[in-house]
Amino acid sequence: MRTWPLALFGCALATGIATAAVEIPALKSAAPRGMLIGVALNQAQSDGKDPMASAIVPTHFNSVTAENLMKWEAVHPETGRFVFEPADRFVAFGEKHGMFIVGHVLLWHQQTPAAVFAGPDGKPLDRDALLERLRTHIETVMGRYRGRVHGWDVVNEALEEDGSLRKSPWLQIIGEDYIAKAFEFAHRADPQAELYYNDFNLTKAAKRAAALRLVKQLRDQGLRVDGIGEQGHWLVSWPSLDDIDGMLGEIGAAGLKTHITELDMDVLPRDERMYGADLDARAKFRAGTNVYADGLPPDKQQELAQRYADVFRLFVKHSDSVARVTFWGLSDRTSWLNNFPVPGRVNHPLLWDRDGQPKPAFHSVVRALQESRKDAEK
Ligand code: GLA
Repeated sequence: MRTWPLALFGCALATGIATAAVEIPALKSAAPRGMLIGVALNQAQSDGKDPMASAIVPTHFNSVTAENLMKWEAVHPETGRFVFEPADRFVAFGEKHGMFIVGHVLLWHQQTPAAVFAGPDGKPLDRDALLERLRTHIETVMGRYRGRVHGWDVVNEALEEDGSLRKSPWLQIIGEDYIAKAFEFAHRADPQAELYYNDFNLTKAAKRAAALRLVKQLRDQGLRVDGIGEQGHWLVSWPSLDDIDGMLGEIGAAGLKTHITELDMDVLPRDERMYGADLDARAKFRAGTNVYADGLPPDKQQELAQRYADVFRLFVKHSDSVARVTFWGLSDRTSWLNNFPVPGRVNHPLLWDRDGQPKPAFHSVVRALQESRKDAEK
């Protein structure tokens, strides 16, 4: 019989509250062999300035992604000016703990300064000049961490929901081959690094088919693409388990690794009105939907726990191709979902609560991983 590695977890240390240390299993040790369990860190966390994160992250995770500080606007805020200190500390944090370090992200249409796409006279840049900027960016950023950052999200969110290419400035200025160029530059900048295409809603058939087509075309051109990232910004009630199962099966069958790159489960109501331009309507709607401001009630905790267990069972079912599951944030306190799709709500999408206590969802994920591991060892 296998004994589960136990992590001595000091709650008192994590929260400043004087409670006794509790023994809980480490998430990363419960996962199937070969499946990394990652977390996205904010700057305070990778700087070692968040005691809760310093206590939890090295114990439970063996992979880290920078939530924001490797994005174009952060590392390359003006053409030719790079800011690397926070990213350096992030990489050093991952190395100190022997983690698989993910670089996020080299090419995206958001969190990229508008000036990237503008020429000196304020007119849009031409194709060659933008390609040159992209090449310089990728070479400089990846080159700095060559051999130290193990995998990169090279291109993020290039597809529309119907599978057509997003009409981003990248597409409009460079043309369809901007994606291939990004992968080409990335492989040249660090031939050892794994390279991923990352997007959301790949549980939807049309978008997934387009992503698989895209990656096949890239590989047919001889380019390196190791895996597809599905962000996994999911809800408790969506997408269906069948759709998740189907997605994992198809990506695996295409000979690619799946990386669940940004997992969380929104527990608050969503509505079309949240995305509208009428800010008054949005504010009113927000107030009415901040329904768990005083905490998640026990039945909802259970629902979230069940949902997490269900999706982790699927990750284990496809563990020959699911290489990594990364949570988008450590605890409910710092989740971006407190401010998306409307700002100022109290959300509860992750495995640790605001005080750094593992939630029922944490325990149900561990149980789901342990059960399936025991099955595999029978
Ligand atoms: C996308 C990006 C992430 C992050 C989230 C929202 O999923 O890939 O970097 O910005 O949106 O926080």
